[in-house]
Amino acid sequence: MLINEHYMNLSGNYLFAEIARKVKAFRELNPQTDVISLGIGDVTQPLAPAVVEALHHAADDMGSPASFRGYGPERGYEFLRQAIAFYDFAARGIDIKADEVFVSDGAKSDTGNFQELLSADSVVGVTDPVYPVYADANIMAGRSIVKLPCTADNNFVPELPREHLDVIYLCYPNNPTGTVLTRQQLSRWVAYALEHDALILYDAAYEAFISDTSIPHSIYEIAGARQCAIEFHSYSKTAGFTGLRCGYTVVPLDVTAATAAGRRIALNGLWNRRQSTKFNGTSYISQRAAQSIYTPQGRQQIQATINYYMHNAHQMLTTLRNLGHKTYGGENAPYIWMKTPGGLSSWQYFKLLLEEANVVCTPGIGFGPSGEGYVRFTAFNTRENTEKAMERIRAV
Ligand code: MLT
Repeated sequence: MLINEHYMNLSGNYLFAEIARKVKAFRELNPQTDVISLGIGDVTQPLAPAVVEALHHAADDMGSPASFRGYGPERGYEFLRQAIAFYDFAARGIDIKADEVFVSDGAKSDTGNFQELLSADSVVGVTDPVYPVYADANIMAGRSIVKLPCTADNNFVPELPREHLDVIYLCYPNNPTGTVLTRQQLSRWVAYALEHDALILYDAAYEAFISDTSIPHSIYEIAGARQCAIEFHSYSKTAGFTGLRCGYTVVPLDVTAATAAGRRIALNGLWNRRQSTKFNGTSYISQRAAQSIYTPQGRQQIQATINYYMHNAHQMLTTLRNLGHKTYGGENAPYIWMKTPGGLSSWQYFKLLLEEANVVCTPGIGFGPSGEGYVRFTAFNTRENTEKAMERIRAV
């Protein structure tokens, strides 16, 4: 029996699993120490009351013969896809219909899986640093990756590639750097994709954290994007669904890719084929929970939690800057990207913070070579822990 050799090209461990391993080892050696995690972006605020109520109702539905639901529609229930199409798109003047929305168990699976629709020899571009899933999923499939450096010199905005790319992953607001793209910068990428017959896989998981009204929330705010972009959304950070699981992917009916013979095939139908073969849908109760986010109470409660996290981000930015650290992001995103002090490597600073301040960050190098010399902090903790973590960093 032979393995898929491409797996040999992956780095040893998945980044967040590696960090969890190191933190666990530290905790075992120091059982009395209170470690604060500003590492993986896992939320700390419980589900909003509107979501909890919807979950209770949905559980009751599942317990009654009249309202019990078995396998759901492959693309997701109509009630949720209609709410998404209206509130996330039509209400913002964006032309996306319910039949272009596919409900999923979150953006991680779909951003990792979508590449299956594309030719094995597609040339794939990812920003560097990058959320590891995009690169790893393509490495597993044996593709070559072109890295688009995002550094302080280009304000963490990737330059358009000189070479031809078939696929480009963009994530804005960005994980890990917390930076955003202006409408003009995003328009350049759409123009590149249209000119090169390339596909943009746009991860909008953090769009709800944008407060600057000039920053686009969706790539479909840009003319032409309906022809060249797929967009991924997540309720994980927006509504505390990290443990519940629900998100969605938009595949506009206008996006097509060519067969070797030059025939154009709509990716919407192809993704439907893939999902109905390999995915049995997101649970009914998760979809009812997601629907509740779009009610007036749900929207208000979710916004209050987002404001809470962004207040944390503001506190962190203020402290870190006052300490003389060079920071980026954190204004329209829940992530802060920080230059390590004294020329320390990302892992050296991670170790120092863990051992001296008992605070967990994410080493920038884990997101790619351009992340060396940086670390990432998340705003997803309680106010008390965030303040305590900043106090401890001040003392180091
Ligand atoms: C992160 O910390 O980058 C995210 O929480 C990981 C994820 O969404 O999978």
